Amino acid sequence: MIEAYVGESILGRAIKKGVIEVEAVNIRDFTDDRHLTTDDAPFGGGPGMVMKCEPVFKAVEALNARRNGAKPRVLLMTPQGRRFDQKMAEELARENCVIIICGRYEGVDERICEQLVTDEVSIGDYVLTGGELAALVITDAVARLLAGVLGDESSPESESFSSGLLEYPQYTRPADFLGSRVPEILLSGNHAEIDKWRRKQAIIRTFKKRPDLLQNAPLDEKDKRYLRELQANEVDEPKSTTD
Ligand code: ADE
Repeated sequence: MIEAYVGESILGRAIKKGVIEVEAVNIRDFTDDRHLTTDDAPFGGGPGMVMKCEPVFKAVEALNARRNGAKPRVLLMTPQGRRFDQKMAEELARENCVIIICGRYEGVDERICEQLVTDEVSIGDYVLTGGELAALVITDAVARLLAGVLGDESSPESESFSSGLLEYPQYTRPADFLGSRVPEILLSGNHAEIDKWRRKQAIIRTFKKRPDLLQNAPLDEKDKRYLRELQANEVDEPKSTTD
C-alpha cells in the first residue's frame, strides 16, 4: 500500500530525484516463528487481536541501528492520538527522519506506546481499518513541505492554513465560462490591487467556512477592520459574475 502510493506522482518524482526517502518496513520480517506472527489475543480476554511487542521493537531497533543509534521520532497512527494538522506537518518537516508505526486490528500492546512511541497521532475522529492510510496522509503532507519536492517551491507558503487563513479563490481560462465570468480585478493586471483583493477573499472564505481559524490567524489592523465589517454583515461574498 505504501509503496504503491509513494511511487507515483509528486512523491514518486521526489524519491527518484533523491530529495526524500520513504521506506516501507514489513514487521513480519522481524518475527521468528513459522507463522510470522505479529499479533495475538488480548490478555484478559475480549475480541480482536493485539499487535505484539517483539516485531515492532525489533523493526524500530533495526532502523535506529542503521542510523548509528540516532533516535528519530516514532509516530504511532491511532485514532486516540493528537490530531494531525498543518502545524504538526511543519513540525515534522523539520525532522531529519521519522518512523511511523501503522497500528492494526484492535490495537497495539501498550508497552509499544509507553516505551517506543514518541507521538500518538490521529488524522481525524473516525476509525480506519489500519494506520497505513493515516501514515500516507502524514507522509504526503510532510513531504510536500520539503525543499525540492514541489516543482514551485514558493507554493506551500501561500496556500490554505500556512498563512492561518484559507486560500483565496483561483480561476483560470476561459475568463467567461458559459456566461460565468471571473472577477474583473484578476484581468486588470494591477498586481497591488489583486493582492489586496486576494487578501480580502482569504478573510471572507475563512470567515464563512472556517471561522475557528480566525482566532489564531495573524491579522493586521486593516484585516481586522475588514473582518469587523464582515461580522457586521456589510460585505457581500464576491463571486464570479453571471450575465
Ligand atoms: N488508525 C485507525 N484510525 C485512525 C485514525 N483516525 N488516525 C490515525 N490512525 C488510525
